[in-house]
Amino acid sequence: MLSAKLQDALNEQMKNEFFSAYLYMAMAGYFEAEDLPGIASWMRVQALEEMTHGEKFFNFITEAAGRTDFRGFDSPQNDFDSPLGVFQVSLEHEKFVTASINKLMDLAKDEGNHAAQIFLQWFVTEQVEEEASFGLILRKLERIGDDGNGLLRLDEELGGRGFVPPAAE
Ligand code: FEO
Repeated sequence: MLSAKLQDALNEQMKNEFFSAYLYMAMAGYFEAEDLPGIASWMRVQALEEMTHGEKFFNFITEAAGRTDFRGFDSPQNDFDSPLGVFQVSLEHEKFVTASINKLMDLAKDEGNHAAQIFLQWFVTEQVEEEASFGLILRKLERIGDDGNGLLRLDEELGGRGFVPPAAE
């Protein structure tokens, strides 16, 4: 059973997760246009992961006898000044997602909703990984600087990422 307040916050986070997929596809479009197909592919995989995150919220809300509420969102950023700029924006976005997950967890605790806390625990851990992976690429890009060959090597490396669906719960 979900309170109206918790249901609203879960729906808002479902929107954030689906928006993340939309944002990362926009970033993939930027990298495709920049002839960096490996980084574009990495972003596409990230977008697929975000879709599964959104679906987890959908599943939890419905299994908890709540009601889903799909909300609109603003256009994501499409233009960037550099690959480094993209990863600065994406890391900031992940920090926003982490903060909203933490707020949701605080609400679930305040309401004594144990099921929601257990559900959200997966996201708390996931956000540590998300910030780490975006942060690592950001630091690599900082070191690469204007080295075109370094950027091509990173493109090749990131192109190796495959989509691994999260284990079914
Ligand atoms: Fe699902 Fe990257 O936050």
